[in-house]
Amino acid sequence: MRIPFVWAIPVACVVACVSGCTQPSGAVPSESSINTLSLENRLAAESRDDSDEVGVRARAAQGLRISPVAVRTSGLTRRQMLRVGLGSYIVNGTADCNGCHGSAAGFLAGGNPFSLGGAGVVYARNLTGLTLTEDQFMETMRTGKDHRDQSGMLVVMPWLIFRWMSDEDLKAVYAYLRAVPPVQNAVRSDDKSNLHLPPAVPFPGKYTDGEIDRPLPHEARSFSPRRGLAIAPRAHPEDLEDDELRSYALGSYIANSMTACNECHTNPDRTPSKINTAAYLSGGTVFGVPPPLQPVLHQVRAMSANLVGEQYGFFNEPEDSYDRFRTIIQTRSHADETPPRPLGFPMVLIAGNLSKVLDDDLRAIYDYVKGVPSVTGTADQPRQDYARYCQSSTDCNAGESCASNECIGKACAVDIDCDTCQTCAGGACAAPATNSACLASAR
Ligand code: HEC
Ligand code: HEC
Repeated sequence: MRIPFVWAIPVACVVACVSGCTQPSGAVPSESSINTLSLENRLAAESRDDSDEVGVRARAAQGLRISPVAVRTSGLTRRQMLRVGLGSYIVNGTADCNGCHGSAAGFLAGGNPFSLGGAGVVYARNLTGLTLTEDQFMETMRTGKDHRDQSGMLVVMPWLIFRWMSDEDLKAVYAYLRAVPPVQNAVRSDDKSNLHLPPAVPFPGKYTDGEIDRPLPHEARSFSPRRGLAIAPRAHPEDLEDDELRSYALGSYIANSMTACNECHTNPDRTPSKINTAAYLSGGTVFGVPPPLQPVLHQVRAMSANLVGEQYGFFNEPEDSYDRFRTIIQTRSHADETPPRPLGFPMVLIAGNLSKVLDDDLRAIYDYVKGVPSVTGTADQPRQDYARYCQSSTDCNAGESCASNECIGKACAVDIDCDTCQTCAGGACAAPATNSACLASAR
């Protein structure tokens, strides 16, 4: 089942962009550009990054295994086959294109509506039988240019993240999309005329989204750790050991150009020109579960977890380990709880994809997030568990009741004891008020 969720829509930021998308003036911290250079040099000293051939082969083989549809491979050269496989690895593993572009019509066949909250509605495009040329595709992924409706850029499509992939990896995605079986599914035209969008946002040619501007190396490399160093929004940790460095840098590449942890785990995720690094990966974004999925997942709404907060971050908990993270991803559940609850929406979908990536890549994501400097201050908050769906109070825990398909009444001392957007009133969790700011923020 593929139900769209309005993910980190850059609408607000895109709209703000109209009045000038340039960098805020002011000094860019310099301290860590030096650090980046020396990390770069240390990586360069490792021969492994200079030959990505082994990595490409392993990822391409895995990509061909995990493609949910058979791909057209007849007549392809070995090099083209590698590209198709690598593209599948990205589309179906490290990124989640089908989460938005898949529909009842088929794999990547498009049609899901995304409401722009009164400003219109857009529909995920049919990515099968793609008629864009490779150059047009690259331009779309890098600048948000909408080749179908030239009057305004793409607004739901997370090109602000994907733009950081290397040419090599974007071309692989294109090769895979061209190789999947075409599905006939005419997608309706978007309605975004109220947004007065610019046609596209020029690609800056260097990394400008974070605390430190950095040059963008390794356009011709796939899954390049050195490119990963360039696209980390925060300054790099000072104390990386040689054996952690490559994995940290590779993880940054995956997390910041493909899996988009930031889009869901940073609230708000960005201003027009920058990622919100003060709250980077500290969670708190609310996701409404689409109604048809609620009885299936037994969830009503979820809040993204605090990952790197000094006090409350998941990766700073004493019991943190790579094994714990991997088990959670692979079982798509809070395997560290008794009894284990399924993961909340939409992490459960992301975990479904990540459970298919090579162990080195999953480990790299872990090493990267682990290396991100801890967030302190007001952004470091505990985050609420997801609110559970019910049809009657027998679906809820003892002592709770079911109101408007949501379990309420859990004993509590403070709001954080209650489920997403609920409040603690007189020792029991109450459903969110209709004017709840938390509810209103739900994507
Ligand atoms: C959060 C949902 C979402 C995700 C994830 C997503 N897309 Fe999109 N994409 C859209 C929507 C919606 C549109 C069209 C409307 C818009 O954004 O304005 C679109 C448009 C596109 C277009 C333009 C197609 C055309 O006909 O011009 C391309 C190409 C594309 N997406 C590729 C991808 C690829 C490749 C991935 C995965 C790496 C991906 N998308 C992931 C939502 C998404
Ligand atoms: C599409 C949105 C989305 C994306 C992308 C996403 N997450 Fe999540 N994540 C969530 C939500 C929502 C939750 C809370 C789920 C729950 O309550 O069970 C969550 C939970 C988690 C948890 C469980 C934490 C805990 O307390 O048990 C981990 C670990 C995690 N995410 C890591 C990541 C990492 C690492 C990435 C990027 C590689 C990522 N997520 C990308 C939305 C997302």
